[in-house]
This record gives sequence, structure tokens and C-alpha cells, in this order.
Amino acid sequence: MCGIVGYIGNNNAYDILIKGLHRLEYRGYDSAGVAIVSPEGQLNVYKSMGKVSNLEAYCKDKNKEGVIGIAHTRWATHGEPSDCNAHPHFSEDGNIALVHNGTIENYKVLKEALLQHGCRFHSDTDTEVLVQLIEYIRLTNNCSLLDAVREALKEVVGAYAIAVIEKNNPDQIIAARKSSPLVVGIGEDEMFLASDATPIVEYTDNVVYVKDEEIAVIRRGEPLKLVNLENQEAEIDVKKLKVSISELEKGGYDHFMLKEIFEQPRTLTDCIRGRVVEDGRRVLINGVSDNKEKFINAHRIIIVACGTSWHAALLGKYLIQDMCRIPVEVEYASEFRYSNPVLTSNDVVIAISQSGETADTLAAIQIAKKMGAFVYGISNVVGSSIPRETHSGTYIHVGPEIGVASTKAFTGQVMVLTMVALAIAELKGTMTQEQIAELGKVITKIPDLVSQTLKLNDKIKHLSLIYTYARNFLYLGRGYSYPVALEGALKLKEISYIHAEGYPAAEMKHGPIALIDAEMPTVIIAPNDHLYEKIVNNVQQVKARHGSVIAIVTEGDTEIRNMADHVLEVPEVPECLTPIITSIPLQLLSYYIAINKGKNVDMPRNLAKSVTVE
Ligand code: AGP
Ligand code: GLU
Repeated sequence: MCGIVGYIGNNNAYDILIKGLHRLEYRGYDSAGVAIVSPEGQLNVYKSMGKVSNLEAYCKDKNKEGVIGIAHTRWATHGEPSDCNAHPHFSEDGNIALVHNGTIENYKVLKEALLQHGCRFHSDTDTEVLVQLIEYIRLTNNCSLLDAVREALKEVVGAYAIAVIEKNNPDQIIAARKSSPLVVGIGEDEMFLASDATPIVEYTDNVVYVKDEEIAVIRRGEPLKLVNLENQEAEIDVKKLKVSISELEKGGYDHFMLKEIFEQPRTLTDCIRGRVVEDGRRVLINGVSDNKEKFINAHRIIIVACGTSWHAALLGKYLIQDMCRIPVEVEYASEFRYSNPVLTSNDVVIAISQSGETADTLAAIQIAKKMGAFVYGISNVVGSSIPRETHSGTYIHVGPEIGVASTKAFTGQVMVLTMVALAIAELKGTMTQEQIAELGKVITKIPDLVSQTLKLNDKIKHLSLIYTYARNFLYLGRGYSYPVALEGALKLKEISYIHAEGYPAAEMKHGPIALIDAEMPTVIIAPNDHLYEKIVNNVQQVKARHGSVIAIVTEGDTEIRNMADHVLEVPEVPECLTPIITSIPLQLLSYYIAINKGKNVDMPRNLAKSVTVE
């Protein structure tokens, strides 16, 4: 959600900033802007509604010279998306420009006070309050920009990642963060700043992740300095980036989403590598074995997450309960954080997040830690906030996911949860070595089975044409297929804007059945599992009401094949591994329906990849 880029060095800042904004486009935004100090000492600020390409068109004939600048893609929270509300915002005297990701919760009080001191505002944003406050402090105290930023941030309640430059000092960027991500890239005679490492990768692999309430002082010709709000210096911990530039590009596919769907055999191989070993006989999850006591003695596991990660969490419940016999609760992080939760030190909280930056999930983690629970993170983005804020955890290692609709991260999360459950089961002795080895062996085959499943592509592409203009969809599944139904429906909603509901199949008769008619297609996830016979009834019930059925079944299925309008056959795997396989055709179905409708599948409207605000 929203992106920040900054540059200081000897090269043309504009080109680097615009390229960086393009790299961050996947995060979701509604407007973009850039501020550059020109060699003549002008602070040139250009902003535009809509895509980064609009900004480029707007800047075409403008003065874009300069070797220092900041840029932003905005995802509006305060004030509608417009040229005027787009960032950067600048101070009344035009000396300071600032970009901000996050929300200033007490902006009204601050604005009132500043208005009384004669400040004038030109936008509806909370962000402008911050830049005016910095200027006010700077002028009143006659202090440096760094000191003014420090003092201003002490007044602010909320979440922020900011970058600030000054017209009168073209040799420094001041940046800071609290609850919103910020990374500094250290090159030779140049430094970069960004919301995540993607705009930085092609220039340097040395990065520093700024921590909460730290301020980065990025000065030309000086090493990076980090200070806290009290101006005490913090240690610089330079990390090596492991992401390659090719991972950030489409690699011949029309869209990132399609590339990411097709990458799953490889991403699942990466996810399993070194964890399921000895031909499946051993499952090694360091985060679990290093915290053996916590898991063995856990009275309860609570999994918190949002969106697709919440669907993975729900599968985590089935997996852990089945394999480890530990009670598991699954909570939306946004509900959990305000639910006055009851936690003890015997509870283990697992937080799942692809981006590792979701604000609600981070807040849930803080609460859980405060209440003494052991907190375990499952995330994709190395160095992001959630892995840093949790006591221990596991990366899913599926590489950068650029498409806003999560696909490979979901299957990676489910795979990690499966391995975590097996590792706990081994420690607790709730499964025998033989049972573990049996599943372990199939896990090593999952990447191949996913490849096989992807062969359904052409069939699904064809099938999608029949359903492109459906207005509603129902997705049904039971047991392990219920979260898959929820995820299938979410995927369709997100990118095709078709209304879709996922339900546990047996709930259909308690309400949703009223919706079924010839115009309401139902997707039924019905692999060969212990609930198969029950879901056959659902197929019959839909058909009896003239609804059409697309069924995901196991290869060789005969019963549903005779009733459903379309069947998509997937390879047979043990019940607990079916979600990874059955979710593949659903990803493809939503992709093709959205493409048929001409939608922007990689950047669906209103959505952000990384939801860093509440
Ligand atoms: C997934 O397709 C969605 N874009 C969304 O639901 C997402 O899963 C959710 O915002 C959580 O994100 P996270 O995994 O990065 O925490
Ligand atoms: N709250 C700010 C605004 O609405 C920043 C939003 C963002 O993170 O992009 O302008």
C-alpha cells in the first residue's frame, strides 16, 4: 500500500525515482508524485492522479534535473485521490517537501493548532499537517531539519514512513518510520530509500531496514546514520539482499499473476528445500525445534492473519488439530486486536502474512507479545516487520509476489503450515514416524503434482469464456476444501469484480441455496476425501435447482462427473494436502475470467498489496 522512493547520489534522480515507483506499483495506489531539487536550487514538485505513467506524461516537458529527490505512490486514506492530495506535500514557504505512507491519527488536533498559528493548508490530507508541523518547529526553534523532524514525530500519533528533503540543503534526505516499512540501500557514492527492496535491487544488494521510531539521516558523502527520537545513535545493521532482478520481472508471461501461478512448482520446491529431507522421512523446521518446549506445552494455538493469509490460517487449524491434537483458534487480526483477547504464556500465537507488513497483523502480534504469548511468524518478505517482531518463525521462500492477488504465497503458506504441523506432531509424538514419512514423501512430490495440475490451463481458459458474464458465483467445499472455497471466491472477487461467496458446503441449505438458479454458477471443490459422499449431495441439490456446477474432483472420479456441468480433474493426494492442489484450478479460473472481462489482474482497483494502514 503506497510506495516511497528516495535517491541521493550523482545520477539523474528522476529516472531512478520513476523506475522505483514502477517497481512499487504492485503495492496499489491511486496517484503519484515526485520532488527533486534542481541544480539551480529549485524544489520541483510534480504530482498526478492515476498511474505513474500519467505522472511521466505530466513531467515530459518539465525541468527534471537533479541528483536528489523523493517520490511517492499514494493510496488515499484522508482526502480523495486527486492531484492536490497526491504527495509530495510541501511546507508553506516551499522549502520542505515530504512524502508519507500511513495515517496521522491526531491530525485534526495538530491541524487546529497550526491553523491558530496562521498555517494555511492546501490539501485534505493528514500528511500535509506533518510537513507544516515540521516547518513550524523548524522556524520557531530555528533548528536543523533533523531536529524539527524528531520533535514533530514526538507529537504524532499514528503510523508513518516518511522522507523529507529541503530546497536549501540538497545534500540530505531525512527519513523515518513507525509501523510502516522503510529500507535504505547503500551504493557507492549514492543511497536509495524505498518502502521495500524492489526499487533498490538493481543498484545494490546492501540494505538497512529502518526500525520503528528510528530516523535515517542520509547525507551526501557521509555514511548512513540512524538516530532515535531522542537523537541517540542506533547501530547500522547492513543486510545482503537475495532477490534478483529477474524475479521482479514478468519473464515472458502477460501478467505477474499468471507468472506466479505457473511458478508454483518451483516456489514450492524452494519452500520445501532443506525442510523435508531424507526422501520425506524427516521434517526440519528450525523455528519449531528451537522452541520445542513452547510447542509441546502449548495449551492452545491462535492463528492471526488477514485476507488470503487468513484462509491459509484456517487450513492451519485443520492441519494442526489433525496432526498435533492441540486446540487451534483462527482470528482475523483486525478483530483480534480489539477483542480484549485472553492470552497466557501457555498460548502460542502464529501470525501469517505474505508481506510481513500488514498493520492489523502487526498490532495483533504486539498485543500477543505484551500478554506473554510466544509469537511465531510465517512470512514471505525477508527482513519485513513481522519476522522481526515475532519471537521466531519460518519464511515461506516463494520469492517476491508482485500480483496483488495472492497465489504462490498462499500455497507456500499452506505448505509451511503443513510442515510446521508435522514438526510439532513429531515432537509431541501425536503421529508415528511412519505416518510422518508417508506424508513427507508425498510433500516432496507436490511440485510435480502441481505441474501436472497446471496442465488444466487450456481447459480452464476455454471454460472461463462460458462464465465471464456471470454476476454471482458460489464456492462450496467441506473440511480441507472449505478454506479453499473461501480463497477461490476471494480470488474471483478481487480481480474480476464478480460477486462470489465461499461457504462450507453443508451451510448451503441454511441460506445460500435460495440464490441458486440457472444464472448462478457453483464451484464445488470435491476431491476424494472422507466427506466426498456428503458433497455429492450438494451437487445434486444445485442441479435440482437448474444451477450449473463446475466441480474440482480427483482424477478418475465418476460420480460427480455424471452430474456436474464441468469437471476439472486433479491428481490424488492425501486429504490434508488437497488444498495446495485444488486451489490451482481456482486461481486459473479467476485469472481467465478477469482477463476476459478486460480487468487489470495485477493491480485490481482499490486494492493494495501490502495493507500498511488499519
Ligand atoms: C490476497 O489476494 C489479498 N490481496 C489480501 O487478502 C491479502 O492476503 C491480505 O491483505 C493480507 O496480506 P498479507 O498476507 O501480506 O498480510
Ligand atoms: N494518509 C496519507 C494520505 O491520505 C498517506 C496515504 C498513503 O499511505 O499513501 O495522503
